[in-house]
Amino acid sequence: MTADDHSPAQNPAADSAFLRACRREPVPHTPVWFMRQAGRSLPEYRRVREGIGMLDSCMRPDLVTEITLQPVRRHRVDAAIYFSDIVVPLKAIGVDLDIKPGVGPVVGRPFRTREDLERLRPLEPDDVAYVTEAVGMLTGELGATPLIGFAGAPFTLASYLVEGGPSRNHEHTKAMMYGAPELWADLLDRLADITAAFLKVQVEAGASAVQLFDSWAGALAPEDYRRSVLPASAKVFGAVAGYGVPRIHFGVGTGELLGAMGEAGADVVGADWRVPLDEAARRIGPGRAVQGNLDPAVLFAPREAVEAQALRVLEAARGLPGHVFNLGHGVLPDTDPDALTRLVEFVHERTVR
Ligand code: CP3
Repeated sequence: MTADDHSPAQNPAADSAFLRACRREPVPHTPVWFMRQAGRSLPEYRRVREGIGMLDSCMRPDLVTEITLQPVRRHRVDAAIYFSDIVVPLKAIGVDLDIKPGVGPVVGRPFRTREDLERLRPLEPDDVAYVTEAVGMLTGELGATPLIGFAGAPFTLASYLVEGGPSRNHEHTKAMMYGAPELWADLLDRLADITAAFLKVQVEAGASAVQLFDSWAGALAPEDYRRSVLPASAKVFGAVAGYGVPRIHFGVGTGELLGAMGEAGADVVGADWRVPLDEAARRIGPGRAVQGNLDPAVLFAPREAVEAQALRVLEAARGLPGHVFNLGHGVLPDTDPDALTRLVEFVHERTVR
């Protein structure tokens, strides 16, 4: 697809509340979707995944389509997010990794030296033909509901590659960033190219927006983020700028980084629950929409408490030119799906214009 294919005449989702909010246009109601909405909190998800490994399921267009549609059918969210994982493009170029249930991505041989970079070749669209096929099937099924494509940001991907798995302190990653800055820059640059290529595949197949997940960027001081991480994320956003689809930027614990993240080139910046959205918008700067930011743990409280906290988010967002309601991080696995359905209804009812 080209930029023209994403025009209202070509894309039936172009006038959706979600895309309008991303473009900071007036909306019929505040759009809402949930990070990790297509995941383990749904019994119908667990049923279709039974006996199929996470990465194997990501390579099956029939399963990807079904799992992506499940939360749209059940919760009536305003956008679908493509079912995949941030490590799928790395797997597709031959990196030896797996996703372990209850743990997350685990890499066979961690990346620590310059020789290791040779294991990161460019991503070609043919490496992920199943993504092109699944996005095509999905846009047909979704009609006026937009599909969000996504990828992991270079820093967050680098953390998995360098640590070899999930990490609390990112010590090997930071050791490379501080101790071998040229190697670090080359690693992030390669990851930026792979990430950009992966997002392009999704947009060219019909995704209406993209989100870059820099989940672990909050582990960085602003100066280090600006110098050692922002250029690679900015390269990704620049590479997909020409399509005219909204680009969303998200990380956890990024209160001190929101200004820098706002400069990386996205159209929408997400915030977690630690910063009220009006303050987040001030830090992000003008010309960007905001996404967030209900604490996902709030969904374990009684309905009245969930609604009170959701109202607090809506109050903080009142008057902002573009707000996409979301959680401040992904849906927690044990969340009651009905609490999510009720929350979607509540946000819609409270914001009808
Ligand atoms: O949002 C969605 O509904 C789309 C699906 C999606 C998955 N992973 C599916 C998944 C998305 C957007 C992701 C992104 C992702 N993956 C991120 C960024 C978002 C975030 O939460 O910060 C990160 C850091 C990863 C890496 C990863 N993959 C983790 C931390 C885990 C969870 C490990 C666990 O089991 O606790 C995974 C596995 C994973 N990715 C699952 C799903 C549904 C669970 C796998 C399973 O069901 O066996």
